[in-house]
Amino acid sequence: MAKHTCENCGKEFSQKSHYTNHKNRKNPCVTESKLKEIIQEVIEEKIQELSSSIAIANTFEEPIQKMKMKMKMKIKIPKKIETNQPFTFIEVCAGGGGLSAGLIKAGLHPILLNDNNADCCKTLKKNHPNSNIVLGSMEDIDFTQYIGKVDLLTGGVPCQSFSQAGLRKGLDDPRGNLMLKFIEILNLIKPKIFMIENVKGLLTHDDGNTILRIIETMNSNNLYNITYQCLDASKFDVPQKRERVFIIGVLKSINIPFTFPCESNTKKILRDVLVDVPPSNGASYSEEKKNLFRMIPQGGCWVNLPENIQKEYMGKSYFSGGGKRGILYRLSMEKPSLTLLCSPSQKQTERCHPLEERPLTIREYARIQTFDDDYEFIGSINSQYKQIGNAVPVELAKKMGLSIVQLLQTTL
Ligand SMILES: C[S@@+](CC[C@H](N)C(=O)[O-])C[C@H]1O[C@@H](n2cnc3c(N)ncnc32)[C@H](O)[C@@H]1O
Repeated sequence: MAKHTCENCGKEFSQKSHYTNHKNRKNPCVTESKLKEIIQEVIEEKIQELSSSIAIANTFEEPIQKMKMKMKMKIKIPKKIETNQPFTFIEVCAGGGGLSAGLIKAGLHPILLNDNNADCCKTLKKNHPNSNIVLGSMEDIDFTQYIGKVDLLTGGVPCQSFSQAGLRKGLDDPRGNLMLKFIEILNLIKPKIFMIENVKGLLTHDDGNTILRIIETMNSNNLYNITYQCLDASKFDVPQKRERVFIIGVLKSINIPFTFPCESNTKKILRDVLVDVPPSNGASYSEEKKNLFRMIPQGGCWVNLPENIQKEYMGKSYFSGGGKRGILYRLSMEKPSLTLLCSPSQKQTERCHPLEERPLTIREYARIQTFDDDYEFIGSINSQYKQIGNAVPVELAKKMGLSIVQLLQTTL
């Protein structure tokens, strides 16, 4: 007699009608391995759905791993859990992460953050534990795997050495500097957009020729529409006067101009941020300096000292003219801060706390640079001040990021 075998569970029937009943039953039969396969598919589908939220995906990762062990299954859990943000960026020379923190807030997802300073990379790792942080010179990184896969390439690339001599030799110059290296990476991976951030001095360096030459070199393959602007952070909800140049290039094929963010109608002042600041380490002044600052009002500097003390403190430079207002400067609660620098207490660059005779603490520095209070900095106090003082204010970076995201959305 012919046998009828169920393809799902392997059960055999001598009569066709029994076989048909078996196949048509309400709860279809499955083998154990088939059952595992189905569950695996469902779980993987769920993981994909859940990976749109890091928090939820992390919550589910452990139970899923346990289930995987119990069922002896191979469930692929993405090593790096992606966000649901469709736009990606790479940042070289990322420092302590002001620019990246702002871009992330704007909805961009970092696929590589690089710096050649170990403390900076530890800070980046601490605050972005799921991100790919690469310690080392940007010159030594192989970017080929990112060709055509990145929306934004960015970096606060130091460019002091962008000299005429260096440029004349062009991109093939073996002594090529970091700006030339950035252009090389740009030409290799061809992101949709690139953004370079630099000091305002870049605009006037070599009578404005330096920036023109940088743009000319970036445009040598005629791929990007390039524009640049100097933005003052204090006009973008940052309680600090800080001017930075942003050079932006958009692939010509996108054919939409980049729009810089609009200035805010209101200004943030120190009174807005120097309240309830979490305690942290900070530098201190000598007793002598404290005594001098006791004579200086908010917003004042050495010129507010009695004349005899001015002459004694300033020495020869008392007679050399020029304002030198950065010397013995005390910040004002009613104004944005002067530009924060890599150290809070050098003779030419003092920024004394408005109400107390001391430099700003690490957390006060971070507040003024608009880092969130839970953003942690790793390293010695000096290293932390440097990372914060070097950063693009997070809020300004976020606003630039939002303009970039707006443009990228048109490419979807
Ligand atoms: C101005 S800071 C960048 C700040 C950053 N954009 C932010 O918002 O926090 C410049 C950084 O470039 C890094 N740097 C200098 N030379 C480098 C190189 N060859 N490769 C990678 N990073 C480098 C420095 O360590 C420094 O942290």
